[in-house]
Amino acid sequence: MTTKKQTVGIDRLSFNTTAHYMDLQELATQSGTDVNKYYQGLRQRKMAIPSMIEDVVTLAAGACQRIVKEVDVEKIDMLLFATESGIDQSKSAGIYVHRLLGLPNTCRVLEFKQACYSATGALQLATNYVRQNPGRTIMIVASDIARYKRNTAAEATQGAAAVAMLVSANPKLLSIDSASGFYSNDVMDFWRPNHMHEPIVDGKYSCEVYLDALEETWKSLKDKTNVKISDFYGFCFHVPFSKMIFKGLERLFSLEPVTWSERARLNSLADKAIEYNQDIGNCYTASLYLSLISLLENNPENMAAKRLGLYSYGSGCTAEFFTATVGDNYRNYLYTDEHASSLASRTALNYSQYTAFHDGFVKTQTMSSSENVALPPSSYTFNGVSDDKRLYSVNDSLV
Ligand code: HMG
Repeated sequence: MTTKKQTVGIDRLSFNTTAHYMDLQELATQSGTDVNKYYQGLRQRKMAIPSMIEDVVTLAAGACQRIVKEVDVEKIDMLLFATESGIDQSKSAGIYVHRLLGLPNTCRVLEFKQACYSATGALQLATNYVRQNPGRTIMIVASDIARYKRNTAAEATQGAAAVAMLVSANPKLLSIDSASGFYSNDVMDFWRPNHMHEPIVDGKYSCEVYLDALEETWKSLKDKTNVKISDFYGFCFHVPFSKMIFKGLERLFSLEPVTWSERARLNSLADKAIEYNQDIGNCYTASLYLSLISLLENNPENMAAKRLGLYSYGSGCTAEFFTATVGDNYRNYLYTDEHASSLASRTALNYSQYTAFHDGFVKTQTMSSSENVALPPSSYTFNGVSDDKRLYSVNDSLV
């Protein structure tokens, strides 16, 4: 009798984004820019904008909640929170999420940081832990608010969302291979000093470093595993803005011979992998995994047993190229309808409402609960600050 080899990877994947968004047409009209610079030049349509009652904790709790309802929480040994929009220099944002979700006290909680890369670092550590402890699971949540200064080139690449993933043995969605290619280099392409609310970014340079790191991680992966582009059904890359995926594919195609029809096929698959990102914008740590959900949920072709290549990039920089195989019955474990209805139920902001939300964000760092604005109820709410303690609540009728 042959025993099936144990696999480890992502068992469930869910995203949550803000209740409001702004169409990039609004930004284009305001700045006198041709909207096609955004729609075609960046391949972005909309950006998610957080209100004063949303932050990385509420976004994260909402992303985890669907998964928590379906699995045995007593088996979750760790909650790993990946973010670069942290709310505290000391306490992990994950501790708040742990309480809001009612996770057991026997669960470790940690926060991970390395720009957009840290969810991948958490994922790799989690898969190693589960290989050693196959009966146990780990919840990873990547949650970020990508917020740039207004009236800058980067403004059109804002967004916000959280992606939650449950890591387990014999995962339903994606088994992850242990070999991967990594690359790190001390570069100043994007960073946010402690005293600043928005990052400093050298936009064009950051795109070059992203592509160079893609090449280096691919070569590192090839050195270890001898993979070829033709071994893969498709690719998902970190999505700071959706056009970057196509630039990434071009760089990959420059590294080895690929037929024109295969290039066309991979490019059209990438259209499916950016569906959600185009309507949400950058969400830093969550962005690669949002793209993965987008591909799994929007590609009409059956991807069971197909092999994927995933590229994770975090400015500064650390990057990783890793590989994975889609589960046989993956479609039965997605939240496609819930994700579609959450996007459809968002409220559009006009430009002046957007500026109020954008500028109000800084105020939320010290906003008292009595200053809280009247907004429609949500599952998890940030209620302001009292004695420098952040206050959160759960709306039981919505979760
Ligand atoms: P920009 O100066 O607005 O852009 O900055 P541009 O003038 O180069 O135009 C963008 C594209 O639109 C170009 O296409 C134009 O040709 C095209 P490309 O040549 O690149 O293919 N275009 C038009 N297309 C159609 N119709 C038109 C039109 N006009 C122009 N009328 C930039 C763009 C991305 C640099 C800026 O938005 C920015 O700084 N964004 C933030 C940084 C960023 O996203 N970097 C990505 C790599 S770094 C990364 O991924 C890490 C990150 O996620 C953070 C982390 O790790 O924590 C950011």
